[in-house]
Amino acid sequence: MNEVYEKLIKCYDSIKNRIPFKPEVALVLGSGLGDYCNDINVVSNLPYNEIEDFPVSTVPGHKGQFIFGYVKDVPVVCMQGRVHYYEGYPVTDVVLPTRLMKLMGASILFLTNASGGINSDFGAGDFMLITDHISSFAPNPLVGQNIEELGTRFPDMSKVYDEELNNAIREVASENNIVLKEGIYAQLTGPSFETPAEIRVFASMGIDAVGMSTVVEAIAANHCGMRICGISCVCNLAAGLTDNPLSHEEVQAAAKEAAPLFKKLVTESICHFGKP
Ligand code: HPA
Repeated sequence: MNEVYEKLIKCYDSIKNRIPFKPEVALVLGSGLGDYCNDINVVSNLPYNEIEDFPVSTVPGHKGQFIFGYVKDVPVVCMQGRVHYYEGYPVTDVVLPTRLMKLMGASILFLTNASGGINSDFGAGDFMLITDHISSFAPNPLVGQNIEELGTRFPDMSKVYDEELNNAIREVASENNIVLKEGIYAQLTGPSFETPAEIRVFASMGIDAVGMSTVVEAIAANHCGMRICGISCVCNLAAGLTDNPLSHEEVQAAAKEAAPLFKKLVTESICHFGKP
């Protein structure tokens, strides 16, 4: 069996009796957004460090556990904290949790992250609906022998972010007077922030926001047939667009400040998914 798939199945087998229900939505909480879990009706949790061979986040602000619970009446599995490529894990490990949530039964993947805004229309604290992404700066998690059990060798990527889910998020934002920007997100490897010269290049490529996650997860989820949507919390203006030096602390503080509106947007959107 393919080594990556073997690890996934081993992982799934070792936790399957700790999955309390079949989740509909898998929600990944980005930097500073992990407190969202206080808002859901928690049924159980599963710390990553209790799962054998599971990648564990080393980043401050990323707790590192699955939470199973209900957002109103929708069963969800939340990743409170994710692992990043820059932590030194192979990219196949970075996407292992995403694939695991698919095996748990989740058909929708709701990705969130913190990003640096490049689009001149964006300010710190804005939310950006991810309408497409650019993966060229991060390794592709599908490189290597294809896992036929999950998906095809050459997956189509022309509609990664599901238009119906996007429309649900747009509607919720508009009904709740939440300003929702839209744009293209690019994942860089990190962990260093970008230089102003890099940001100028990315702007000329049509990139609206940059971060260090999400795209590899979206590629893996698209490969295994999940419906995907994503919201980025623009936590700072990207390098060179302000005089301030960038810091992880600033990113976390901005995400915390945006948290109440973020909670509303995410909760109501999840309840809207699947409604006509
Ligand atoms: N660059 C990359 N990743 C980020 C940023 C940034 O400016 N802000 C939050 N995550």
